[in-house]
Amino acid sequence: MNTPRLVLVLALLRGPHALHTGPGDPSIDENMVNGDWFSIAQASSEPKLLWKDSHMMFFVRKIHVSLKTIEFHLYRRIQGMCVPIIMMANKTKKKFQYMLKYAGHSVIFPEEVAPSRFIFCIHNHWHGKETVVVNLLSRTPPASWDVMQTFKNYCKSHGISPANIINLTRTDCCLHA
Ligand SMILES: *[C@@H]1O[C@H](CO)[C@@H](O)[C@H](O)[C@H]1NC(C)=O
Ligand SMILES: *[C@@H]1O[C@H](CO)[C@@H](O)[C@H](O)[C@H]1NC(C)=O
Repeated sequence: MNTPRLVLVLALLRGPHALHTGPGDPSIDENMVNGDWFSIAQASSEPKLLWKDSHMMFFVRKIHVSLKTIEFHLYRRIQGMCVPIIMMANKTKKKFQYMLKYAGHSVIFPEEVAPSRFIFCIHNHWHGKETVVVNLLSRTPPASWDVMQTFKNYCKSHGISPANIINLTRTDCCLHA
């Protein structure tokens, strides 16, 4: 067994949260995710959550980080309409980890944080089932090739196949709502 695979197996044995290490770089601050964003890709361990009208499809436009919370200003498609929604998650004791009450409960992990893009991963727990949804945000759409590549690698290392990644700048994804 080669080393990256061993690391992944060990991480899986310790539970899914062990896969989330945060940005690693101590100079990266939670406030870096403040401001305007575009959701440009989404992936999920559950393909049906990627249907455009699914309750887990998030088209984020803005994020506001405060002392105790993180606020996602986003659109959801409801019966074909882009409906603005604000979702508020609480900070937890761990840096880069937030709790959200939505469709059961969810834990949100911002990762791969950089000034122009970042990834957030949601572990949703509902009726005893855990699903993972990953959203790629960029300051401007569409994403460059290397940003998409970072996202694909991230998904792969979290057990999500490239077939379960969708491009949110291609279809009607509330981009101009
Ligand atoms: C977030 O904190 C508020 C205020 O303390 C609390 O009412 C709410 O239930 C919390 N939400 C979650 C998801 O823990
Ligand atoms: C996503 O779709 C947009 C618009 O069609 C395109 O410009 C972009 O290259 C696509 N990105 C990827 C990674 O396929």
